[in-house]
Order: sequence, then structure tokens, then C-alpha cells
Amino acid sequence: MDEHVCPLKTKLPLQLYWSTNSTHRNPECFREPEKFDPSRFEGAGPAPFAYVPFGGGPRMCPGKEYARLEILVFMHHIVKRFKWEKLLSNEKVVVNPLPIPQHGLPIRLYPHPPQVDVPA
Ligand code: HEM
Repeated sequence: MDEHVCPLKTKLPLQLYWSTNSTHRNPECFREPEKFDPSRFEGAGPAPFAYVPFGGGPRMCPGKEYARLEILVFMHHIVKRFKWEKLLSNEKVVVNPLPIPQHGLPIRLYPHPPQVDVPA
């Protein structure tokens, strides 16, 4: 690893660790960060580089729009076609290094009965 000089004039091997949690769960960036509150994205939304699930700057994820569309379609089908429940009610979110459900968020799916079109 390269040797860097920090502002304190101390020579040290510098390793920078960053995770989305640094801002996504920081109450200085998002009031009540644990609360589900889509309204925080309304209007001007969060400050630049505060919400960065796909990174930021020139190396930002090029799959961003594809991933968002795919997740939207996936969620649409889950909600429309199934009732679902979490199998572990108190599953923790762990940081490894990104936040993920500790046991992979197992769920049980119950298919909705097929919709029958009734002629008018
Ligand atoms: C939910 C899905 C995804 C998330 C959360 C995600 C997140 C990220 C993040 C955080 C980075 C690093 C950005 C940075 O350094 O500033 C990245 C890079 C990248 N992602 Fe994604 N990504 C997702 C899906 C995808 C998909 C579907 C593709 C391709 C089809 C993709 C291709 C890439 C590539 C090629 C890079 C490297 C870009 C570079 O270094 O110039 N990602 N992604």
C-alpha cells in the first residue's frame, strides 16, 4: 500500500473505509433514518452524495437504471401475485460491508387465487 501524509503530518498507511451506512443511516443526513418515509425524497430530495446506493461521480454504477427497472418489475409481481410473510420476525441487518439481512430475508409466499374475468 502507498504511504500517504495526513494533514497532521504523520506518515501512515492510509486505508479509507466507506459504506453507504455512513450517510444513509446518519441522522445528520436523514432525519429518523430507520423510519420508512418516502417523502424524504420529494422536492429537492437529499443533499448531493448523501443517498448513494449506486455510488457517485465518474465511476457511478452504469447498471443503475437497469437495476432500478428490474427491482420495480420484481416488486410489482411479488405484490400483485403473492401475499407474503417474513419467516424471521426479528432478523437483524448486518453490515458486511454493505447492509444486508443477516439470514437473507427468508419469506413464505402465498399465491393469490387466480383472477376470473366475469363477463359483463
Ligand atoms: C441493486 C443493484 C445494484 C447496485 C446497488 C449497484 C451498486 C454499485 C455501486 C455502489 C458501484 C460502485 C460505484 C462507485 O464506485 O461510485 C457499482 C459499480 C458498478 N456496477 Fe453496479 N449496482 C447494481 C447493479 C448493477 C447492474 C445490474 C450492473 C450491470 C448490468 C452493474 C454494473 C456495474 C459496473 C460495471 C460497475 C463498475 C463501474 C466502474 O467502476 O466504472 N451494477 N455498482
